Amino acid sequence: MKRAIISETPKHIGEKVKVSGWVQSCRSHGKLIFIDLRDKSGLLQVIFLPNLSGNILETAKKIRPEWVVEIIGIIKKREGNTENKNIETGAIELSVEEIKVLAEAKTLPFPIDDDGYQIKEEKRLKYRYLDLRRERMKNNLIVRQKAAIFIRNFLSDRGFLEIETPILTKSTPEGARDFLVPSRLQPGKFYALPQSPQQYKQLLMVAGIEKYFQFPHVFRDEDLRADRLFEHTQVDIEMSFIEQEDVFNLIETMITDLAEKIFNKKIQEKPFPRITHTEAMKKYKSDKPDLRKDKESGELAFCWVLDFPMFEVLEDGSIDAVHHPFTALADEGLKKFKAISVEELRSPQGKKELLGFKAKQYDLVLNGVEVMGGSIRTHESEVLKKTFEVLGHKPEAVKKRFGHILEAFEYGVPPHGGIAAGFDRLLQTILNEKSIRETVAFPTATSGITSVMDAPSSVSEDQLRELGIKIVKKD
Ligand code: AMO
Repeated sequence: MKRAIISETPKHIGEKVKVSGWVQSCRSHGKLIFIDLRDKSGLLQVIFLPNLSGNILETAKKIRPEWVVEIIGIIKKREGNTENKNIETGAIELSVEEIKVLAEAKTLPFPIDDDGYQIKEEKRLKYRYLDLRRERMKNNLIVRQKAAIFIRNFLSDRGFLEIETPILTKSTPEGARDFLVPSRLQPGKFYALPQSPQQYKQLLMVAGIEKYFQFPHVFRDEDLRADRLFEHTQVDIEMSFIEQEDVFNLIETMITDLAEKIFNKKIQEKPFPRITHTEAMKKYKSDKPDLRKDKESGELAFCWVLDFPMFEVLEDGSIDAVHHPFTALADEGLKKFKAISVEELRSPQGKKELLGFKAKQYDLVLNGVEVMGGSIRTHESEVLKKTFEVLGHKPEAVKKRFGHILEAFEYGVPPHGGIAAGFDRLLQTILNEKSIRETVAFPTATSGITSVMDAPSSVSEDQLRELGIKIVKKD
C-alpha cells in the first residue's frame, strides 16, 4: 500500500490509508487511546478503539513521543464538536486497523513543540537534528528555499549565468582572517577558503560572461556575533558595462519582490531612500542607520548608504580599504590619486589626503543591518596596483598575491561592478529572528563549535605527518 501524506488525508474520508511519521503526543480518554502523528506535511489525530486486537492495544499503550510508526486505518470525519480548527486535518481522524513500530526513540533532551528560544544555543546545536523538528525551524528552512528559488529565477530570467567558483583557493582581501587548508602535495603551502568569490567573479567579467550570480559559501575567521557566521551564504552578483544606478535598479526590484511576494512584508519607503556615508555618520552616528518609524510594526525599512570613503587609517597607523581594494575611486578623486606618488600618499600628510578619497561603494541596509555590500570596480590595472601599494603591499608582494588579476586586466577588461547579499543575514532580518543561526540548518555556534559534529577536533599523527605539520603550543 502506498504511503499517504498527512496533509492529503482529508481527501480520503471513508478510505483505507497508510501513513507514517513521528508520534507528536499520546493520550488516553477512558478506553480510547489517541496519538497525534506528525510527518513533514502536518499533524493527524489517530484513534485506537477498544475493540482492536490485544496486540495492537498493547503497542498503542507502549508508544511514546517521537517513536516512528506506520499506521494503516480508515479516515473518518470527527464526530460532533470534536473538530480541531488549529490543524489542517482537524475535521478528520484516522481509526487504526494495523500499526507497526519502525523505530523507538529516547526522551528528547528538550521539547520541540514550542519555539525553542528559551533553550541554550549549545544544546540546540548539539541536537540540531531534533531542533529542526520544531515547526518554526522547519518553516525557516522552507522559506529559505522559497527565497533562493525566487532569486535564482529572477536573475536567470534576466540573463544572469549561475557559475560556481572554487572553495580551495588563494587568500583574497575582504578584511577578515582566512581559514587555511594545508596542502599534502606541497607541504608547507596552504589554500585559503574564500572570504568571497570577489576575484573569480571579476575574472568572469574578463571572460565575457557579463552577468554572473552564485550562492557561494564563504568563510571568514572573525569574532562571531548574533548576525555573523564563520561560514555564510552570499547571493553574489557581478555585471559588466554598468553604473551604480544599474545595480540599484536591479537589486531594488529583486528585493522588493522578494519581501512583498515571498515574505508578504510591507516596505516602509519606496524607492529605497539613499543616504551618503557622511550624512549617515552625522545624522545617525552609524553607517547602517535604522530608519524604522515604528520598530514594532514589522515593516521593512531599507536604505542605500553610498559615497563611502575609499580608505581608512587603523589605530596602528596602517591603511585599509573600507570595502576592498578592488573598489573604484569616485571620479572626482581619480585624477588626483593617479598624480600623487605612493610614498606621498603613505606619508603622515598623505594619510590625511587619503581619507578624503571617496569610493563607488554602496551598502544596502535593512532595519539597521547591513544586508548587502558592493561596488563598481577599478578596471585599470595601474590604479589597482597602486591601490595595493598604498595599502602597504610591496611591489613584489603585489605581484605574488595579485599578479593573476593584474595580468588578466591586461587582456581587455570591461568596466564592471557588483554586489553581494549576506543571504542568511537578509533572511534573519526579514524574519526578525534574533540570531542568524535560526536561518541555517547546521550553523556553527557563537563559540565556534560546529553543530552536532563537534569540530574543530584533533587529527591523527599520521595525517599531520602527511601534511608536514607539527603542532606547537601557542603562548
Ligand atoms: P561584504 O564583505 O560586504 O562584501 O559581504 C557581503 C554581505 O555578506 C554579509 N556578511 C556576513 N554574513 C554572515 N556572517 C558574516 N561573517 C558575514 N560577513 C559579511 C553581509 C554583507 O553585506 N565581495 C564583496 C561583495 C562585492 O563587492 O560584490 C563582499 O563579500 O550582509
